[in-house]
Amino acid sequence: MPDQPSRRGFLQGGLAAGAALATATTAARAADDPAITEIQDWNRYAGPGVDAEPYGVPSPYEAHVVRRNVPWLTADPISSVNFTPLHELDGIITPNGLCFERHHAGIAEIDPAQHRLMINGMVDTPLVFTMADLMRFPRENHVYFLECAANSGMEWRGAQLNGCQFTHGMVHCVMYTGVKLRHLLEEAGIRAGAAWVMPEGADASAMSRSLPLEKALDDCLVAFKMNGEALRPGQGYPLRLVVPGWEGNLWVKWLRRLEIGDKPWQLREETSKYTDLLANGKARRFTWEMDVKSVITNPSPQAPVTHGRGRLVLAGLAWSGGGRVSRVDVSIDGGRNWTTARLDGPSLPKALHRFYHAFDWDGSELFLQSRAIDENGFVQPTKNDLRAARGENSIYHNNGIQTWHVAKDGVVENVEIS
Ligand code: MTE
Ligand code: CO
Repeated sequence: MPDQPSRRGFLQGGLAAGAALATATTAARAADDPAITEIQDWNRYAGPGVDAEPYGVPSPYEAHVVRRNVPWLTADPISSVNFTPLHELDGIITPNGLCFERHHAGIAEIDPAQHRLMINGMVDTPLVFTMADLMRFPRENHVYFLECAANSGMEWRGAQLNGCQFTHGMVHCVMYTGVKLRHLLEEAGIRAGAAWVMPEGADASAMSRSLPLEKALDDCLVAFKMNGEALRPGQGYPLRLVVPGWEGNLWVKWLRRLEIGDKPWQLREETSKYTDLLANGKARRFTWEMDVKSVITNPSPQAPVTHGRGRLVLAGLAWSGGGRVSRVDVSIDGGRNWTTARLDGPSLPKALHRFYHAFDWDGSELFLQSRAIDENGFVQPTKNDLRAARGENSIYHNNGIQTWHVAKDGVVENVEIS
């Protein structure tokens, strides 16, 4: 692989580095580093017992790893969004407590014993399920990313927000446990001529969208677990719709009703919102699939380079609503030269993919970029390519290539090179 030194090169490099460390750094460290020479408290005294945290929490040293809000983005935190701290995470799974949340009327606090899922409209038998009823359908487990269509929306006209948490943090990826929506719809019996499904939420916004029946019968899930435990209240407890690869707005939380119909309902969230206004004043609608996209998470503005020149490990995430990511290229000179990054970990369709690229930094300024390619051959565009196709009025579906500027002192900033 291009970013991997040969085994021979690695051994030689290792020896050279080892020799340098032994003379310059390691011995000196061992001599006066209290972390080596002193016995620490945690080594001397017994710690808290197994009952200290019935539900485990992260180390207090990780207290900065939290979701964050951009208060000026929205008028009120009840109809707002917080962002996943992508620069603090690794692998492909987002911990439940760090999954970004987007609500239009706050979190519905639902007693699962009182929760019902109704199916009505163009069906043979309208049905109402309790949570217990749903547990008796065949369960499936799938890892999927969810990306809000507005992710990176602030960046359409130029670099705005300083951190991948804010530019790209409206994405998360968990393993869902649920039942196929198809099984529930078939239980009710879909009538001839039906072509659309309207999922509706039980929150005060009663979030509703028109979903093509074809997608509903394909891979959609009605999920009750994420990463093995019950959905978090902010993520739709006790029940949410999972619409793999498609924009987050369709993934109705606190799901209480599915209406079957023969045409779309033309709801607020698919007319005034979640349409893409073009330069000629016309708008694209029903742009459901999330296009191939990637971002370098480390280094990034909230995660500067602190170790100076030498080996620098880039880490990042890539995803595509069309399936698997087949390749990620990275550039350190603003897109002039590209190298193929190393994809690592599971490569699952419509899930986040993790990539790394290691190189020796000579300490000069860098313009970092990543460009993902999916299994269908779609290539992540530059922001100029996007603007050429869709003008400058858009908010949603910005999958353009992100640039981070790394200064000589390791400080990282959001810039644009297109
Ligand atoms: N479902 C309901 N009932 N109410 C909502 O406000 N927000 C939608 C969608 N489902 C929303 C909803 C939007 S815009 C997105 S991006 C996703 O939920 C966010 O899911 P998350 O909060 O689990 O990240
Ligand atoms: Co959204």
